[in-house]
Amino acid sequence: MSSDFVQIDEPGGIDPTLDLFEEIERLKVDRNAIILAHYYQEPDIQDIADFVGDSLELSRKAADTDADVIVFAGVHFMAETAKIVNPDKMVVLPDLNAGCSLADACPADQLQAFIDRHPGHKVISYINCSAGVKAISDIICTSSNAVDMVGLFDAEQPLIFAPDKNLGRYVEQQTGRDMVLWQGTCQVHELFSEKKLVQLKVRHPEAVVIAHPECEPQILRHADHVGSTSSLLRYVQDTEHEAFIVLTEAGILHQMAKSAPGKTLIPGPPEENCACNECPHMKLNTLEKLYLALRDLSPQIDVPEETRLEALKPLERMLARDLTVA
Ligand code: 13P
Ligand code: SF4
Repeated sequence: MSSDFVQIDEPGGIDPTLDLFEEIERLKVDRNAIILAHYYQEPDIQDIADFVGDSLELSRKAADTDADVIVFAGVHFMAETAKIVNPDKMVVLPDLNAGCSLADACPADQLQAFIDRHPGHKVISYINCSAGVKAISDIICTSSNAVDMVGLFDAEQPLIFAPDKNLGRYVEQQTGRDMVLWQGTCQVHELFSEKKLVQLKVRHPEAVVIAHPECEPQILRHADHVGSTSSLLRYVQDTEHEAFIVLTEAGILHQMAKSAPGKTLIPGPPEENCACNECPHMKLNTLEKLYLALRDLSPQIDVPEETRLEALKPLERMLARDLTVA
């Protein structure tokens, strides 16, 4: 968990007789607010959100909304991205401590020193990074368009890819080009166990394996389909297969079960007998904190203007040149 953020509000003092769903709906109208949620949020939050999506869809939605207030039910870098593209809107995040191990693994000053050691390289940063890192990057990508974004550069152009080494390696395989990889990982996706996955495949020979590209290579080599959270969801909905071993954060199983009722969904197995396939940062947000964020319009996300303007450039390059289908 990042220690840089200070939580202002705690979910105390909520009248226990309140119907939080009703209150949130009422406040949403009062505030002209939109609730954007990532698939890794708890089911109640996904159900009350106006839009649930992957990182690319959420950043597009944040850029397009005409709401006055964006309640971002996700993690800090996502809310920060919404603020970068919407300086005049208020962006609130239910729990300011909702960080990300990838963003934390790549402080902007350390990335700058790394860039200085690799003259002539362009920098592609995965959206899971701070505004400071975005500000020194040439283009941003998400898991759904990383291959396309890398393809925008001439084959001879040396590239740095930060901060996720697993996504970077996956993109290298898909594009056949070498990049200098920052050595960050997602603390959730790096913990899936290959041994247990193989055992699970033996027990469920009918199941296809679907995985997020933040997983380690020894997991990805077993996958029948690799993609962003939305891509995994579409695969479950749209293919004829009936059973899936799902190697990403377990929150997405809620949307998969809703949109493909009757299909068998088997969560990917972590190394230990733990709930490590749940992101502790994403799960800091609760319905109560979401209600308080809307009621009190706090905690708000702010980005220093100089950083915001620099971070906007590579984000706009991605949003303008994104080649994936919406
Ligand atoms: P996507 O939803 O864009 O696939 O990203 C997953 C993720 O790591 C969010 O933190
Ligand atoms: Fe970050 Fe991983 Fe959590 Fe996504 S699942 S927010 S990449 S720690």
